[in-house]
Amino acid sequence: MNMIVAVDRNWGIGRDNGLLASIPTDMKFFREKTTGKVVVMGRKTLESMPGAKGLPNRVNYVLTANPDYQAEGCKIVHDEYELFDALAQYDPDDVFLIGGASLYNRFYKYCNKLYITKMDADLNADAFIKDIDKDDDFEVISESEPVTENGITFRFVLYRKKKEGLDRARTLRF
Ligand SMILES: NC(=O)c1ccc[n+]([C@@H]2O[C@H](COP(=O)([O-])OP(=O)(O)OC[C@H]3O[C@@H](n4cnc5c(N)ncnc54)[C@H](OP(=O)(O)O)[C@@H]3O)[C@@H](O)[C@H]2O)c1
Repeated sequence: MNMIVAVDRNWGIGRDNGLLASIPTDMKFFREKTTGKVVVMGRKTLESMPGAKGLPNRVNYVLTANPDYQAEGCKIVHDEYELFDALAQYDPDDVFLIGGASLYNRFYKYCNKLYITKMDADLNADAFIKDIDKDDDFEVISESEPVTENGITFRFVLYRKKKEGLDRARTLRF
């Protein structure tokens, strides 16, 4: 499984159940990485998207504890076991964790690659992920040159898990 996220310099990812910034090049990067793939999100992230519909041209999984929840274009799962059972049918390289904070913080350890767009700004977030630079299980394998757009300077940073032992979704069962 992969993770893709944009963070500010405090590892903030959102405010008022929305994104911190709109960066067209980052949205393009997100689209290119995830189109044709499987995306996994929490119910609040789905509801932060226009129309609260699944993203087009992707298989959308949404996690919620609500047994009656339905959303157009989405496959609904109700706990992490149901989620990982469903994901076991896909190549882990084709699965992308796309938020929000609760899912990133719970599942990033199960990801082999983390695509992190680092925005060099303090954007007054109220939702945060853990500081991956403090996690010895991950290392940076590439980092783009900084780019500035809409007044925000950002870099694309790719992290890789040092050990791939937890690659398989079914590991969660043991
Ligand atoms: N910067 C980025 O790249 C990025 C990307 C995505 C999202 N975000 C931001 O992240 C923020 C939202 O994060 P969040 O943590 O508040 O919400 P979230 O993770 O999107 O959704 C949380 C919801 O997911 C469900 N859930 C989570 N874990 C579960 C589990 N183990 N079993 C069953 N259901 C589970 C619950 O839904 P129920 O309450 O229905 O049970 C929970 O309330 C927003 O500000 C959003 O814009 C940022």
